[in-house]
Amino acid sequence: MFDPKAFINDKIIEIKNILKNNKAIIACSGGVDSTTCAVLTHQAIGDNIICVFIDTNFMRSGEPKKVYTRLTNPPFNLPVKMVKGQKKFMNALKGLEDAEEKRKAFRDTFYSILARVAKREHCSFLVQGTILPDVLETVKGIKTQHNVLEQIKIRPREVYGFQIVEPLVELYKYQVREVARKLGIPSESSERQPFPGPGLSVRVVGEITPKKLAAEKRATRIVERKLKVLDPKQYFTAIIDYKKENYSKTERVKKNIKNLLKKRNVSIIVETLKTKATGIRGGARLYGRVVLIEVRGKNYQCVKLSSEIFDSIQKSVMSLDDKASRVLYRVTDQNRIGKWVVAIRSVETLDFVTASITEIPWRILRDTGKLILSSNREISAVYYDLTPKPPSSIEFE
Ligand code: XMP
Repeated sequence: MFDPKAFINDKIIEIKNILKNNKAIIACSGGVDSTTCAVLTHQAIGDNIICVFIDTNFMRSGEPKKVYTRLTNPPFNLPVKMVKGQKKFMNALKGLEDAEEKRKAFRDTFYSILARVAKREHCSFLVQGTILPDVLETVKGIKTQHNVLEQIKIRPREVYGFQIVEPLVELYKYQVREVARKLGIPSESSERQPFPGPGLSVRVVGEITPKKLAAEKRATRIVERKLKVLDPKQYFTAIIDYKKENYSKTERVKKNIKNLLKKRNVSIIVETLKTKATGIRGGARLYGRVVLIEVRGKNYQCVKLSSEIFDSIQKSVMSLDDKASRVLYRVTDQNRIGKWVVAIRSVETLDFVTASITEIPWRILRDTGKLILSSNREISAVYYDLTPKPPSSIEFE
């Protein structure tokens, strides 16, 4: 049984022993892991820890300011330095489409900024809130988490000039939350839904452009507002280029769905996109197909389906197509041609290692979809992501 109090006591001693009287920086995004790690380290070495908040441009609207205010005020009172990185990150990711290339470019930019700050502040240590699933997924090759170096044989001291300390590296997210509560961290932070280090760069699937990123920021805001009442473990949107690819399995997928629905007078449309998304099949990474499903009924309206049918549809696609990593179901009726589609992603999970999708009332899905459509004319349609983890991951990339 995990004992957060004993964990805190042990870690404070361990951090003191490692850092002694040295100064250290900590990259703090305001998320549960990095905030807990910052508070723990602050308790261990006081103001010898400098929190660095990098504005990557991939935070949600208004978030950098909010996080800075939260961390620098009671009860945290952390010493925070805000670093502007927007241009550097946008340039580093410009033109990249592949998810792993984007993640690596993000990671390199992130650490080169931290290396500069560490040098300027005369810090030879970087403390970071890496947790166990970050390491496991990176080492297994599922996806490169931005905050994992040594475990994949990158030597931080040689490359960036600092030694890394990871006090939370043996914990799962729910254990980090227990530590956070024990440390007295307010629930606004301890119960906060996770937000990936590379932020919206992993939710703007494929190439990132300023316009696509702005559309994603607006869509995310809408989803956070509309789904809050349901209190899912994690919920957000992803935006994907609406470029279709020929799909040889269209007819077979349609036939299976027709059999599952047992409904006459519906038309079924099955499409797939050029852009790929991350999944996990047979325990390994699959950069797989995104399959779009649309079922139209009376007045050409998208048909409400039960969560059992949602599950059967995604299972049926997955069993027919071993290269599929996502199944999305259309929730908006309006037909228009735009550059992108938006996926609503919402999951229930304890450890973020496996996850099921949230049961969202159809009315809420449709209202949310309509609002997202009206937020940007370049969005063709809005879908709900039906895929559990595995075979998908929680984030799209
Ligand atoms: P996946 O997409 O791997 O997500 O199923 C599992 C959980 O981890 C979060 N996540 C990240 N967190 N850096 C982080 O700090 C990352 O690079 C990263 N990628 C995913 C994700 O939001 C989910 O909660």
